[in-house]
Amino acid sequence: MVADGGPLFAVDPPALFARRAPIEIELGAGRGDFIIARATATPAANFIAAELAATVAQLLAVRAGRGRLDNLRVVRMDARTLVNLMIAPASVSAYHVYFPDPWPRKRDLKHRLFTPWFAANLKRTLRPAAPLYVATDVEEYAGEIFGLLEGSGFARAEMAVPGAETTGFARKFRAEGRPIYAGAFVAAR
Ligand SMILES: C[S@@+](CC[C@H](N)C(=O)[O-])C[C@H]1O[C@@H](n2cnc3c(N)ncnc32)[C@H](O)[C@@H]1O
Repeated sequence: MVADGGPLFAVDPPALFARRAPIEIELGAGRGDFIIARATATPAANFIAAELAATVAQLLAVRAGRGRLDNLRVVRMDARTLVNLMIAPASVSAYHVYFPDPWPRKRDLKHRLFTPWFAANLKRTLRPAAPLYVATDVEEYAGEIFGLLEGSGFARAEMAVPGAETTGFARKFRAEGRPIYAGAFVAAR
């Protein structure tokens, strides 16, 4: 057994990026349209894109590499492992979670990203007043996520949600005329 809390599996941003800078993380980044554009537009910040599907993560990494983005790292892993176990407290300047898979079948609900434990770890790892941005096209899941966050010590913030119109899925859903439910949340005081 590896000792709990040891440094072995911890993300060390200065080592990863060879510099200290605010860090933003996208969870379930897909092909990376949003995070690549944001990393390109914000060279002063560091970015991590986590994506579970191996082929999608590979494509995202290739696209990021083509852009020669020194401030973006791609990791192929479960976002829950990253957030729950590997991120230091009060270290993240923003989380972006856009169109997380809704897993509509009852027997698959356990795969949904948002649980009380995940929300607690998002809160633990965000810097004070740093935002968590969420968007989904599934009304029922939006209600569940927003309620869970508000019950986990987050408060809704009047802030634009940067990925709600610009991720690959956002563009697709908007083109189809589907409603999008988006919110920004910060830890309540
Ligand atoms: C519907 S897509 C949205 C992709 C992107 N955020 C967008 O808006 O275009 C959901 C993505 O989340 C990834 N995903 C699902 N569960 C995940 C998990 N537990 N950890 C990391 N990525 C996950 C899927 O592989 C998929 O690429």
